[in-house]
Amino acid sequence: MPLLHRIVRKDHAAIAFTLDGRACEGRAGDTLLTAILSHAGAVRLSEFSGQPRAGFCQMGACQDCWVTLAGGERLRACTTPLAAGMSVVTGSGIAS
Ligand code: FES
Repeated sequence: MPLLHRIVRKDHAAIAFTLDGRACEGRAGDTLLTAILSHAGAVRLSEFSGQPRAGFCQMGACQDCWVTLAGGERLRACTTPLAAGMSVVTGSGIAS
């Protein structure tokens, strides 16, 4: 179940990306974190507790929102603008 429910930006241009192979859609101006959490309840599992994490500060300080793209690039989702064709891989099934 998505953590975020979009109530604005419904008329901004759609941007396609994938989340664990699932076709998803964000909106122009979304951060990667916003786009992911509009489709999933978390962005990753904690390497310490194994619990789902969904970002905390939303401003690039806490390091809680690191995600990995299919090519291996690691990104801080809250400070990364969503771009067409991004392929996010959680490797945890939390996004399904
Ligand atoms: S949510 Fe804190 S660094 Fe991204």
